[in-house]
Amino acid sequence: MAVFAQLTDLHLRPPGTLTLGRIDTDRFVVQAIDAINSRHPYIDAVIVSGDITDLGEEDAYNRAAMLLSRFAVPVIVIPGNHDSTPTLRDAFQAFPGFAEECVPGKACHVHKIGGVTVVALDTSVSSPDQSQHQGELGEAQLRWLDATLATSGPVLIAMHHPPFQVGIDFMDKIGLTDARAFAKVLARHENIVRIVCGHVHRTIVSEVGGVPVMAIPGVAHQVVLALDEMTPPALVMEPPAYGVHMIEGGRAVSHIGYVETYGAPVTFDDHEPVTA
Ligand SMILES: [Fe+2]
Repeated sequence: MAVFAQLTDLHLRPPGTLTLGRIDTDRFVVQAIDAINSRHPYIDAVIVSGDITDLGEEDAYNRAAMLLSRFAVPVIVIPGNHDSTPTLRDAFQAFPGFAEECVPGKACHVHKIGGVTVVALDTSVSSPDQSQHQGELGEAQLRWLDATLATSGPVLIAMHHPPFQVGIDFMDKIGLTDARAFAKVLARHENIVRIVCGHVHRTIVSEVGGVPVMAIPGVAHQVVLALDEMTPPALVMEPPAYGVHMIEGGRAVSHIGYVETYGAPVTFDDHEPVTA
């Protein structure tokens, strides 16, 4: 069995700076790392599925690398639409997968952990001012994925943009542009047990090319759940969360854990027996 913790959408700013002028993302990231380390000492690796920083500053990446080094297991990092891949690469040289590019210009990499092949895909699109928030895998990365899947056992795919329309209008406008081509590649293989992603800052479950897909909440702020086009785009401070994915026997089971503590756990033995 292999167990993977997943953090997504850290949106860190340089130390001492609040994200969007109001969110102490640094505090939430510290809390999340402490929570995972204390509650789930059995994890085999951590996946960080993009938007490591909010605005791509070097100081924010250095802080992220320092905080994520608190994990004693491999930390698999991929960029999101808020990231600057060159700056991310510089700060994360010591993290697995950043030594080379799977295809030119993309920070994708593959890892074998506990009998599971983790394929980390790069959906970010570079632009001079980081104004490009749609995602794209690109033909070269899709060909690399197709070849990688053909020679792998059970596969867990990690990516930032969900490869499906989530129904939240403003998020779908910055979705994955080549999701159909991605689904065609998936449909040619039967060894993908789960796709995990971020970007949408919510728990959302769907299926693409016959593969179950799960997006998890952000580690700090969330996106308002509104499935109409009238509600303006907005964030909301719903509970910050992380994912825990268990993979055994070619099957994945995914859980959501909460970053904050909601009272101390009370064992069932502490209660008087309940009688009818
Ligand atoms: Fe995000």
